Amino acid sequence: MGMRKGIILAGGKGSRLYPMTKTVNKQLQSVYDKPMIYYPLSTLINCSIREVLIITTREQCGLFVDLLGNGSELGMHIEYAIQDQPKGISEAFIIGEDFLDGDPVTLVLGDNIFYGDDFYKDLMYISKQNENCVFGYRVSNPSLYGVVEFERPSDSYERNVKVVSIEEKPDEPKSNYAVPGLYFYDNSVVDRAKALEPSERGELEITDLNNSYIRDKKLKVKLIRDSAAWFDTGDPDQMFEATMFVKSIQSRTGQMIGNIEEIAYRKKFVSEF
Ligand code: TTP
Repeated sequence: MGMRKGIILAGGKGSRLYPMTKTVNKQLQSVYDKPMIYYPLSTLINCSIREVLIITTREQCGLFVDLLGNGSELGMHIEYAIQDQPKGISEAFIIGEDFLDGDPVTLVLGDNIFYGDDFYKDLMYISKQNENCVFGYRVSNPSLYGVVEFERPSDSYERNVKVVSIEEKPDEPKSNYAVPGLYFYDNSVVDRAKALEPSERGELEITDLNNSYIRDKKLKVKLIRDSAAWFDTGDPDQMFEATMFVKSIQSRTGQMIGNIEEIAYRKKFVSEF
């Protein structure tokens, strides 16, 4: 297998953050002391991924280039691509086909923040395998997300669970486990994404893509321990909660979250100099 590559999907409408997103893309807004996109980028660096494609809107792409450039300051290679309309998360793989060039991929959503030392270790491990893997994270409001339906009742002590399906924003969720915006796929992902039909809301759904892997018995779902944290910072409340979280951890422990330079140094992407 070739080297795993990363995609950050950082377009979207950001309507829940309106009017902040009237002029500035969601992922460029701050979560405590850094632009939001630093956090998903740090997640990819934690996976030891050095080649990253950032997909965003035509209007705002230049600002991301100003922020992160070609990645060389981080010992990385960063490319950019445009998504003209927010036609769904799975479209990322079609847009990224040339960039991926047959390699496995990790996709992270530009507004998703992950934190946890054990979780970072899991990421390192999963990243080295050529497996298809998504996560389950226990939430109080699963109806807002893709929700896991387990083959049999499960709890968070069992880490690799058998899953029957994933349902997108169900009215009656079959579990409390939401699927966060971090996905590991093999190189069949481009063809699978191309085979999807748009949903009723006109999007190529990530849940449909996951279900295509589940049908072929090729998707692992790993439950994230409650000691790790996941935030989807898509609305003002969650952005505020994430800001408070980052501030609390950083002030209490002196450890930074989402510090891309520091993590790139720890991963030996760059030297101390
Ligand atoms: P969402 O939060 O579902 O959508 P959004 O960002 O447009 O916000 P809102 O619902 O408030 O209008 O998107 C999740 C992430 O995926 C976010 O980082 C934006 C990104 N995204 C795209 O870049 N393109 C897309 O087509 C979709 C659906 C999402």
